[in-house]
Amino acid sequence: MKQSAGLVLTMLATLLLMPAPAGGQAGTLGARIKIDTDRVVGPIDNLIYGNFIEHLGRCIEGGVFQENSPVSDTNGYRKDVLEAVKGLQVSILRWPGGNFASGYHWEDGIGPRDQRPARLELAWGTTESNRFGTDEFLNYCEMLGTQPYICVNLGTGSWDEAKFWVEYCNLQGGTRYSDLRKKNGREKPWGVTYWGLGNEMDGPWQMGHRSAEEYSKFALEAAKLMKWTDPNIKLIAAGSSNYRADWVGWNRTVLQYLKNHLDYLALHLYVGNRNNDYYEFLTSSLDLNDKTRIAEGLINAALADNPQRKPVYIAWDEWNVWYRARGEKERGRQILEEKYNLEDALVVATLLNTFVNNAHIVKMANMAQLVNVIAPIFTNDKGLYLQTIYYPLQLFANNSKGTALDVFVDSPTYKTQKYSAVPYLDVSAVYDNGTVIVNVVNRHRDQPIAAEIQSQKGTFSGTFEIAEVNGPDIKAENTFGSTKVLIARKTLSAQGDRIKYQFPAHSFTMLKGSLGFTGDVSTGERERSRE
Ligand code: AHR
Repeated sequence: MKQSAGLVLTMLATLLLMPAPAGGQAGTLGARIKIDTDRVVGPIDNLIYGNFIEHLGRCIEGGVFQENSPVSDTNGYRKDVLEAVKGLQVSILRWPGGNFASGYHWEDGIGPRDQRPARLELAWGTTESNRFGTDEFLNYCEMLGTQPYICVNLGTGSWDEAKFWVEYCNLQGGTRYSDLRKKNGREKPWGVTYWGLGNEMDGPWQMGHRSAEEYSKFALEAAKLMKWTDPNIKLIAAGSSNYRADWVGWNRTVLQYLKNHLDYLALHLYVGNRNNDYYEFLTSSLDLNDKTRIAEGLINAALADNPQRKPVYIAWDEWNVWYRARGEKERGRQILEEKYNLEDALVVATLLNTFVNNAHIVKMANMAQLVNVIAPIFTNDKGLYLQTIYYPLQLFANNSKGTALDVFVDSPTYKTQKYSAVPYLDVSAVYDNGTVIVNVVNRHRDQPIAAEIQSQKGTFSGTFEIAEVNGPDIKAENTFGSTKVLIARKTLSAQGDRIKYQFPAHSFTMLKGSLGFTGDVSTGERERSRE
């Protein structure tokens, strides 16, 4: 009995490893990727390349901001970090938390820095100096050319605090809080568009945690007052991230109450390799895809009886790999200083592929976080290094802009306990005005995969840029003075409707080049647009 089960497993494994019909030579795994510019998922919103900074550990103090340091400017912003952040072309930056937001009283963080109160901080068990506040955050966003996204305190905070914060940031003047802003040295309003209605309010770990109904009613009144203060703002409601509880029920209730006031439903996802099972870990993006589709269904159901059908989108406003640095304390506080390796970078690339592949509904995403705390950038007092996960984010944020295509992939697969057929190749494709970008993760730990990339219509031409994130092995990490995982660049000459490319084992590769048409060929006719 045991033997025959073993035989079946061996046969299954052999079958799974058999070369795919096209692309590979004998002995090499093969795959096909078909690009068709008529098959469109939707326009990619640049806001999916966002980040997040929280008053937590060394993310802000010691990360983006370090007063009286030789590596900082006269306002306290770290110059080296600013340069590294610019490399990510951060489209939107969420602040001040996270869990921190639910105990934050923003008026503590304005006015002359030396007169601001230090407060006991209960989310992460520390003291908040308040030296980095609203003005420091919004000025930082201006320096970066990024959209600010402020998450208001719907834990211990009040409706008044939320609406006065909008007034402080967005009104021209002539009212108490807009005049206070001027008095603090900022004449022009910042015009903050994106406002979050609390953070993870479904979690018992959250200050001011509420039931779905309690939260929805409270958030609805905050939403009204904030939009009445500035009708141009966009609101993001706290969806559920507590997947061990009734997350579907929470989201349904929130959508029901808030659907006419909301622009986005916020969801969070942290994934990890807790069982040290590489192949299982590399299916994290399938889970993200499932959760996205479920949330999309809930949104569609909530909007079904809405005659105006104002769209509500998904904001994955906290996402990343995070499982090692949890709960531990250093220097008396939680610091969440996760060190990333190559397999984490590959997972990050597959998660980014998933955002692109759901571009019609996922219109914002914020990698959590930006510096030191579960972050792509890691500092000490003298300098910084780029963690492995920096590179896929950099490649996507700098290149994958335009229209997401519904790409066809015929790849060999593997099986996990949860999924019967996981393609070794995870792919997204983007088309933008004559340029095509193909993002491919080869999940295979040991073998390259030879793929043929076929264009359904139109031809590839010229020099294709190839950028590969890879390293000596899946556990390779970067650190100060040692960069094992990075982007290797090369080129490939393309002509005609096919490109053959062999994707190395455990790699993420971006191919970018020209895709041209002759005659009257339009693109995107069958776009699944929600607008
Ligand atoms: O990003 C770290 C924490 O994770 C955030 O503060 C919280 O929102 C989430 O649980």
